[in-house]
Amino acid sequence: MTSQKVSALKSYAKLHQFSHAFSQPEQHLKHLLEDKNRLENFSIRVPGFFYDYSRQRVNQNLMQQLFSLAQESKAKQKFSQMTSGEKINSTESRAALHTATRDFTRAAIFLDGQDVMPQIKQVNHQIKAFTQDLHENKISGHTGKPFSDAVVIGIGGSYLGCQFVYEALKTKIDPKINLHFLSNVDIDNFGEIIKKINPQTCLWVVISKTYTTAETLANLNQALLYLKQHHLDPACHLITITAKGSPGESSSQKHLASFNMFDYIGGRYSVSSAVGALPLSLAFGFDVFEQFLKGCHAMDIHAQQAPDNENIPLTAALIGIWNTHFLGYPAQAIIPYCSALSKLAPHVQQLYMESLGKSVTSIGEPVDYKTGCVIFGEPGTNAQHSFFQLAHQGMAFPVEFIGIIHPVFNQEQTQSKGVYNHQELWANMLAQAQALAIGKDSQDSAKYFSGNRPSSTIIVNEISPETIGMLLAFYEARTVYEGFILGINPFDQFGVELGKVLASGIRKHMAQKNKNVPSEPDSLDPITHVYLDMLFKGSL
Ligand code: F6P
Repeated sequence: MTSQKVSALKSYAKLHQFSHAFSQPEQHLKHLLEDKNRLENFSIRVPGFFYDYSRQRVNQNLMQQLFSLAQESKAKQKFSQMTSGEKINSTESRAALHTATRDFTRAAIFLDGQDVMPQIKQVNHQIKAFTQDLHENKISGHTGKPFSDAVVIGIGGSYLGCQFVYEALKTKIDPKINLHFLSNVDIDNFGEIIKKINPQTCLWVVISKTYTTAETLANLNQALLYLKQHHLDPACHLITITAKGSPGESSSQKHLASFNMFDYIGGRYSVSSAVGALPLSLAFGFDVFEQFLKGCHAMDIHAQQAPDNENIPLTAALIGIWNTHFLGYPAQAIIPYCSALSKLAPHVQQLYMESLGKSVTSIGEPVDYKTGCVIFGEPGTNAQHSFFQLAHQGMAFPVEFIGIIHPVFNQEQTQSKGVYNHQELWANMLAQAQALAIGKDSQDSAKYFSGNRPSSTIIVNEISPETIGMLLAFYEARTVYEGFILGINPFDQFGVELGKVLASGIRKHMAQKNKNVPSEPDSLDPITHVYLDMLFKGSL
């Protein structure tokens, strides 16, 4: 088998030479930005989406070299293999067909000799019919009252993407059913939610691909007890979404409805499957969900077909690799100047770090280079008053700014200092990007700004189902492109397993303590014992 290591590629070695050149003062962004054509040369515009990388530490020659890296690593071919149903998730011997869930081309996609499209369409059809009936009150709760709320039980990929899309769209579209997210096993998460709902008008939607996730099953138990305490039948209030063949499918638990996602859709890539379809259709109607899918599809087509130097996710992936691997930045921030996008960074944190935080290639060779970096974020301008001191004068990290041309509540604006709120927001976004790039000299060293701190800017027209779909699919495509170029598998997540195994040993020990059964004295480490004593004694 040939090595999958990116470090074995010719263009990788050449890029190392470029990184030395980019440490020279003449390559400082303040000089690169003197070029009047800088924005034109280093930006990509497609209908509904503008990507500006003029303030990244790149030049034309370097970009050529990065595109050679993409060619040499066969990134585009791997993307096509992914969308056509090849088992690109090699360690788990699975396809990664999230793009099929929003494929409107009517083409067949074969997996193990079977077209997957009919089953995907069938699930969407079921969800459409179910949510329509529910909105028309043909389906109501145990006491006959129409539903007003739904608590979505799920964690990680079975929650973060759906929450991002819900929070974004609810600024624009009034939900027919309010969603609440019960992800954490923390009883205070549950306690907060039940203060806001009426048990008789609330649905409980359990989302788990594996149906084995401890937190989700604990929260399901909590929900069932809650229903029992309120004399409500789960057959009228509980919905499950799980992979075909999971323990959830064969469970004897009574429920109102159940929908499938499939083995070939990874949790963190699952928003466009039943995982997002059911809750988002409950909230906004299936038609809105379908518009969101169309936005995803438009970006998927672009990601697959646009030439390399006009391809937004591929270019962003290459710049990510340049920043992390060659310029050595340890992190990247996502700063949307749009409060509707407040849950974008939490979603991308999981998407990116669970996909790219790897130590071996897709064929199991240990890597001799960094894989994914740390992703974090917070909406601007709040971020400016939180951690931008460090961004400007402390440890440098690239930033991705996101701006929206038309705010949802445009008509509410008033002027302050001669500008409207939304203009003030943009003034800040534009100023931050420029300040990071050019810096400022000062005789007073405390007031000196080194500059040369890279950023990209993404602009979309407005918050709409289509633009949110484009943003979601942009981050998905960018993540998988980065994985393909690095030669790692962006679809497995073995790194989350060890902690789960250790938690299971501790859980067993606690359960025995609860029953007053003595446990094996040395089954746990001494430090863990000390903490358990605190918990069981109820004091420090
Ligand atoms: O622990 C991480 C993880 O396995 C994610 O990959 C996944 O999205 C999440 O847990 C939830 O898994 P499930 O949908 O099977 O409950």
